[in-house]
Amino acid sequence: MSIVMETERLLLRPWRESDAEILFRYAKDPDVGPAAGWPPHTSVEESLEIIRTVFSAPETYAVVLKQTGEPVGSCGIMFADGTHSAAIVDGEGEIGYWIGVPYWGNGYIPEAVNALISRSFNVLGLSALWIGYYDGNRKSSRVAEKCGFTYHHSESGRQVFDGECRTEHFMRLERAAYVPDVKLRRVHEDKGRYMELLLVGDEQESMVRKYLPSCALYVVSAGGLEIGICAVDESCEGCVEIKNIAIIEGFRRKGYGRAVLGMIADMYPGHKLKAGTGEVPSTVGFYKACGFAYSSRVPDFFTDNYDHAIIEDGVQLKDMVYYELQR
Ligand SMILES: CC(C)(COP(=O)(O)OP(=O)(O)OC[C@H]1O[C@@H](n2cnc3c(N)ncnc32)[C@H](O)[C@@H]1OP(=O)(O)O)[C@@H](O)C(=O)NCCC(=O)NCCS
Repeated sequence: MSIVMETERLLLRPWRESDAEILFRYAKDPDVGPAAGWPPHTSVEESLEIIRTVFSAPETYAVVLKQTGEPVGSCGIMFADGTHSAAIVDGEGEIGYWIGVPYWGNGYIPEAVNALISRSFNVLGLSALWIGYYDGNRKSSRVAEKCGFTYHHSESGRQVFDGECRTEHFMRLERAAYVPDVKLRRVHEDKGRYMELLLVGDEQESMVRKYLPSCALYVVSAGGLEIGICAVDESCEGCVEIKNIAIIEGFRRKGYGRAVLGMIADMYPGHKLKAGTGEVPSTVGFYKACGFAYSSRVPDFFTDNYDHAIIEDGVQLKDMVYYELQR
């Protein structure tokens, strides 16, 4: 299944039939397809057909600039049971990509590939990834290098669409060698845009809207892919309070939540760091595992302030319990 992924500058989303015209604009360019081993598109109809067939494969994404909302390239993960070029086996994947010529040189494809790597190893559970590029395609090999891939082997005599024989070089990245780069990016404008993520940590929107304006909001990314959120109330002197923390499903129990709390603690040295939560084993277990200890409670907070019963792990939340980092 293809989903929508977000990075700092890009959305990776499934291709749509309505993208045919814009796809044709970039894919007809003789500098794009042949370098990757496919012929330039010859008409909008052909681009539409490609969207319906090749681009409808699982894990194939349009690379969309957030700034314009328009696709400018494509990227995806290919598997052992579909089209691929590397000698991949079950449980491995091959990443492919291209971007329209006007957008070369901006680091968009490394940004997209890092998101695909993050998804491959965290969510899809792949054990290794490949990138193949034809001899002389320095731009493509640089993308692979920048994203942590290392040279594996070369295969000569590979025939491409026009009958030309080329040498293809293969780069590989093992899950064991992958160290995700966890980052927090502070959001200054339009914090409400992150409501979907905030609702993962606190399901009543009216409650989130109460504290959001006075909170510092941080988007959590792993390998550039946005995977979570953390809202921190800085309004009380000498003390900061985590009002909301959430890591999306698929990325949980991999140490990202712990890393976020560590980064928040480092950002506010000399401050008390508190977190309020419902009294359920999962979140209480999380805070305790991250070095927090019980400090106080507000009885009946959830039953008095929320307009419906909040059930987590089968338990109805009642009191708000506060935990504090033991520095
Ligand atoms: C709570 C949450 C932020 C934790 O993030 P995470 O990335 O999964 O946490 P980590 O992987 O860093 O976990 C660190 C430790 O916390 C403990 N922990 C985490 N989730 C736990 C759970 N569901 N049950 C028990 N302990 C848990 C474990 O000891 C874990 O270490 P381990 O996996 O090596 O055993 C995440 O599960 C989440 O987003 N949940 C939904 C939203 C939410 O409940 N937010 C908190 C209320 S605002």
